[in-house]
Amino acid sequence: MGKYVVTGAASGMGNEVARRLRADGHEVIGVDLADSEVIADLSTSAGRSRAVREIMAAASGRLDGAVFAAGVGAHRGKERLTVEVNVLGVTELLMALQPELAAAGNAKVVVFGSNSTTSTPFVPRRAIKLLESGDTERATRILRRRGALSGPAAYAASKIAVSRWTRRHAMTTQWAGSGIRVNILAPGPVLTPLLRAQLESSSGKHVRSYPVPVREYGTPEQLAQWVLTMLSPAADFMAGSVITVDGGTEALLRPNDW
Ligand code: NAI
Repeated sequence: MGKYVVTGAASGMGNEVARRLRADGHEVIGVDLADSEVIADLSTSAGRSRAVREIMAAASGRLDGAVFAAGVGAHRGKERLTVEVNVLGVTELLMALQPELAAAGNAKVVVFGSNSTTSTPFVPRRAIKLLESGDTERATRILRRRGALSGPAAYAASKIAVSRWTRRHAMTTQWAGSGIRVNILAPGPVLTPLLRAQLESSSGKHVRSYPVPVREYGTPEQLAQWVLTMLSPAADFMAGSVITVDGGTEALLRPNDW
């Protein structure tokens, strides 16, 4: 049986993934703000260092996989928090845990992206570039200039940056070349506490107007099934892929892209 890290293990999709892995007999090192093996705040540098230290201690030199599901949604005024958790909460942990993942020989990593990467208009390119280089402070300043739209802009920028970073690294000798398969799952709206909070916020009307051709939101169970497939031997031939599971929104908005 394997040993897996799951960030965001206390809620939503991360929680469902952790539950299913445990039910299959695997050991899960959950990371979250509460109710997990590792309690750490991934929005701060100190919290991320603490998470790495405690994960390493629990992993004893080997990890069969990692799932990065911790995330913060689109909220005006929380731009810095969003980009810290959604970008550095993935990239810093992944880099630090590479030796443990390489030790497994065929580890699998799933990073949660989002279909907001392709469906959000006017995301400032400079902010994305800064986020890719880890400069969350300057990126946040640019994102805040979007005014009423700074929440969605920060969320989309964070997911574009983390997806690009992941794709750029996934096929290198350090990752694919070391037997580690790193891929991205990009959900559309999935009914979790994160989406419920968005629906109940001042931008709820805007979120509800988002077109979902299959006419219903996704469930954590459906998305967890995709994660489990991306952790299985079925993913041996995948590296740097983005799997979009979004009820058809992307196809609706960009029918000629593939
Ligand atoms: P959720 O809100 O149910 O779970 C996210 C978890 O991340 C929570 O347990 C929360 O405590 C944890 N977290 C947040 N900030 C943290 C911090 N500073 N340190 C440590 N842990 C922290 O969210 P959900 O919906 O399950 O989201 C999972 C991932 O999927 C996120 O990355 C999200 O951006 C992404 N996503 C979600 C969509 C949705 O509609 N629910 C759509 C597209 C992507």
